[in-house]
Amino acid sequence: MAQQKFKKWTACLRLFSSNIFIQRTFRVVEGGRRCLQTSSGAPPTSRPPRSVNESTTKPFSDFLTDRFHREHDYLRISVTERCNLRCLYCMPEEGIELSPPPKLLTTPEILYLSSLFVSQGVKKIRLTGGEPTVRKDIVSLMQGIGQLRKNGLRELCLTTNGISLHRKLDDMVQAGLTGVNLSLDTLDPFQFQIMTRRSGFEAVMKSIDRILEMNRLGAGIKLKINCVVMRGLNDHEIIPFVEMSRELPIEIRFIEYMPFDGNKWNREKMFSYQDMLTVIKREYPGLVKTADHENDTSKTYKIPGFEGRIGFITSMTHNFCGTCNRLRITSDGNLKVCLFGNSEVSLRDIIRKENHGLPIDNEALQNLGFLESTTRLDNNGEPVHEREREILNIIGMAVKRKKAKHAGMDELKNMKNRPMILIGG
Ligand code: 5AD
Ligand code: SF4
Repeated sequence: MAQQKFKKWTACLRLFSSNIFIQRTFRVVEGGRRCLQTSSGAPPTSRPPRSVNESTTKPFSDFLTDRFHREHDYLRISVTERCNLRCLYCMPEEGIELSPPPKLLTTPEILYLSSLFVSQGVKKIRLTGGEPTVRKDIVSLMQGIGQLRKNGLRELCLTTNGISLHRKLDDMVQAGLTGVNLSLDTLDPFQFQIMTRRSGFEAVMKSIDRILEMNRLGAGIKLKINCVVMRGLNDHEIIPFVEMSRELPIEIRFIEYMPFDGNKWNREKMFSYQDMLTVIKREYPGLVKTADHENDTSKTYKIPGFEGRIGFITSMTHNFCGTCNRLRITSDGNLKVCLFGNSEVSLRDIIRKENHGLPIDNEALQNLGFLESTTRLDNNGEPVHEREREILNIIGMAVKRKKAKHAGMDELKNMKNRPMILIGG
């Protein structure tokens, strides 16, 4: 049944599929920054030289480098706690308590923090949620962040469930969107209702169609489909998902089900990377491993003759902490250095200090000269303004506290952590 529906659906997608992928390139104007302050995180005494940005010959920011020499040039920002779906693996059944609006980061605050991180060498920003497209001003926020390309930002990505993406996609691409990770756990509209506790399958398909269509015209949006596999629920759809990559230039990423507060995780429901490989190899013995990029969280494979690729995110059985280059900011403004760590530091409270603790709107942003100050750097690439020095020192201390790797599966299930929807995918 699911296979039949899938065939009908791919026939229609095939109309839009194309080999033409014209990747946009963004000029790097300014790159990583260095700073003298090393903070209390006890960095090792002898460290290898940091990587040097080719265009500026400046070493990567010390604030964003941890004790294990990991350089964090990828920032994920959650722009809302809200979502128009209720995925079983993400949201507790009873829903979540939303933060009062004044506690959430305003658009000027997100722009300021983005600008600050980019001034320190962040090259990729991903907007997450909740569901980022439900934020009313998501397009203008992206336009603002898109401006940071002139300061060194190379990629602006979105993780979305695709329900309302098709309505905003064209404007987002105009704003500088370069990549979409789209969550889809089933190709069966009925199963979709079970897994997301909502309807909307057709709308998601419309978004996929639109991305492929825009790519045919040269938009160059990197599209990945994220599929969380849960035993007994959608593991029978692994093969239909793999089939999607036969004719479409898409990466299908199978994700191991992870434990977060309220998502009723248990080991039996988790379908491991090894289990998935076994299922796929049985059907496609020619499956071959392809080279992964340095900071890739997924292990990628290809089936000879297939247009797309498949990948696995193996957070539960094989962590990829050694090459982690990510930092996260939650919608309420906390910096989180590890998805599975519960230590957080509020950036919101520090940036609001100058505004008497109040949320920073456009007027305050202008009056307090927030945006200009992020780009005022001295000859060493260090911020000139006291405000940035203070915030970066706090960020630096949090980054230096980052652990070598996250806890194992058995500890994680008992650890306190936010529900996924409050962390941001
Ligand atoms: N396990 C694995 N992945 C999850 N996501 C959300 N919750 C979980 C979980 N418990 C991922 C999904 C989704 C993105 C928003 O976050 O891949 O695509
Ligand atoms: Fe919403 Fe994504 Fe969570 Fe599903 S996984 S409920 S789409 S935030």
